[in-house]
Amino acid sequence: MVVGILLLLLIFCTCSVDATVDEQQNVDSRKPPPHILFVLIDDLGWGDVGFHQTSETGHDRPEVKTPVMDRLAQEEGLQLHRHYVHCSCTGTRTSLQSGRFPVHVQTTLKNPEVPSSGMPRNLTGLAEHLKSANTSYATHYVGKWDVGMATPKHTPKGRGYDTSLNYFEHKNDYFTQECIQSVCCNDHIHRQDKPTIYDLWDTDKPARALQGSDYEEFIFQRRMFDIIDSHAEQQESKDDTQQQPLFLFYAPHVAHCPLSVPQSYLDQFDFMDDDAYDDGDACKFKTYTIVGPGKKQPKHSCRKQYHAMVKLMDDILGSLVERLKRHGMWENTLMVVTSDNGGPIDPQESAATNYPLRGGKYSDWEGGVRATAFVSGGYLPMHQRGKILEKPIHICDWYATLPALAGVNVRKNDEDVAADKKIPPVDAVNVWPLIVGEDGGDSMNGEVCLQSVPPRKEIPLSKHALIDGHYKLIWNEEEMVAMAGWTYPDYPTSHTKGKDEIYGQMLNCSTGCLFNVHTDPGEHKDVSKSHPVRVQAMKKRLEELRKGFYDNDDRGIDSCPEEYADEDNKLPCACWMATNYYGGFLGPYQEVDLLPEFLDRVQAK
Ligand SMILES: *[C@@H]1O[C@H](CO)[C@@H](O)[C@H](O)[C@H]1NC(C)=O
Ligand SMILES: *[C@@H]1O[C@H](CO)[C@@H](O)[C@H](O)[C@H]1NC(C)=O
Ligand SMILES: *[C@@H]1O[C@H](CO)[C@@H](O)[C@H](O)[C@H]1NC(C)=O
Repeated sequence: MVVGILLLLLIFCTCSVDATVDEQQNVDSRKPPPHILFVLIDDLGWGDVGFHQTSETGHDRPEVKTPVMDRLAQEEGLQLHRHYVHCSCTGTRTSLQSGRFPVHVQTTLKNPEVPSSGMPRNLTGLAEHLKSANTSYATHYVGKWDVGMATPKHTPKGRGYDTSLNYFEHKNDYFTQECIQSVCCNDHIHRQDKPTIYDLWDTDKPARALQGSDYEEFIFQRRMFDIIDSHAEQQESKDDTQQQPLFLFYAPHVAHCPLSVPQSYLDQFDFMDDDAYDDGDACKFKTYTIVGPGKKQPKHSCRKQYHAMVKLMDDILGSLVERLKRHGMWENTLMVVTSDNGGPIDPQESAATNYPLRGGKYSDWEGGVRATAFVSGGYLPMHQRGKILEKPIHICDWYATLPALAGVNVRKNDEDVAADKKIPPVDAVNVWPLIVGEDGGDSMNGEVCLQSVPPRKEIPLSKHALIDGHYKLIWNEEEMVAMAGWTYPDYPTSHTKGKDEIYGQMLNCSTGCLFNVHTDPGEHKDVSKSHPVRVQAMKKRLEELRKGFYDNDDRGIDSCPEEYADEDNKLPCACWMATNYYGGFLGPYQEVDLLPEFLDRVQAK
């Protein structure tokens, strides 16, 4: 019997697919590469968009106002129902820019004043690949970066973006752009003992003129209008053979905490009256109640603020589409929209819901890693619009997919890892065949084969979770698995307590829990007992994969004066550079070509 099972297992395993087969097979080389609008939303929950509402939640929940995304996803787009990301920001963002799984580049939430935050210097960025295409892309970055800042190489410009208007940390203040996350920053709630430092960067210098000029998302919107307008203008003077495609990356701050939104948007949600918190704890831990410069709300209204922010971002997406249409660019645009992780369900942090998925941000439950995602735009073939793709994709796959549309095979030039054998090769695979429905179905059968859904193979989510086809193994021998609860559609409400029973739920998966996330996306039924062979095989595979896990430990040379290191400094070089070199803004702090005037000044002291 045991031998039989093992034999069966062997047979099953032989049908794995080699993902390195011709990456470009499905790309029509005669078609000009598309303009790409990539939108990486922050902390948007599965249940926080109109197109995920069901008959159970009610299709017209008034607090969920995302008409633009609903239209782009449901009518004009292809919904990606199994688009996997890391369970928190930095891992997802680094994975996308580097083409590696988070477990092969970065899984921590190190702030960027830690040199190994983000992506090692050696790796080639997504935008660098797009620039290397025969028809080189114009590349622009707007919004949250969170892929490291140590050296100029770590910044968006160093990673292949022609321009960037970005902040570096996980979050900043929406109205002042003051940094609020790292040790360099004053924290509005807890401390006020440091010089004020801002986090807003314009390509290669502090964005001094823009800091504090508006609600951050509107500053970003204006920059994107300028980018689209001037790109269109430049193309007008060129003939057809010289047209340059645009890659515009927009990483909104919305809907990450601090929950903070202009009054005019908050007012649109005045009808929500089950959202006042009396215990004073709700969404307060990591957020503010500021609704405008210096204005404080009398009460926290977490859910109200959250949905107002999402509505504001939805409006901005609508304005970008309109802008691209006005210039005749939309017909040849591929728009990719995804959240960077599931919604945070700690009621002290934010006010997202991932209903009907389990768990949330920071967890490997589907509520943490199955992102709200879709593709849209005129470049998407007609026959795929209005459909839902149920096959797994990982966020890193765009690193291979987007350059493939311009004829670039990112796996061909893997020598960037040669110097440092620790860094694993590219994980990304070209999933365009899946997007356009030309993958030949899953006749290889996701039910039985390990690594079997072409072209995307398995997804190791973390040390404790592995996805293979329809199945997900969650296995933690050391401790209980956290955040094992389910939110409800209108979560959190006035009935939700600080560390409530949903957020605080735990599950024992010490021998391995198994879920069929295809038929049971809510992970209600642990099927490990009825699939012992699969559980054993996936545990073995995860153990094998763990040996290759890598977390960025790259480290450059500080640009701070040597005396600084000798002093009894409690703050890292990044803080010194922000205060003394950039005039109160965060920026690169290692291997910076310091301005001669500055060096003279330091030496004179
Ligand atoms: C990798 O990075 C190190 C440190 O910056 C550098 O010395 C080395 O030349 C790099 N290797 C490649 C292939 O770029
Ligand atoms: C890029 O240009 C080179 C040289 O002109 C040509 O050989 C190659 O086929 C082109 N690649 C693509 C994908 O168009
Ligand atoms: C989890 O369950 C196993 C047995 O299945 C047990 O040995 C272990 O003590 C449990 N862990 C916790 C933390 O309760």
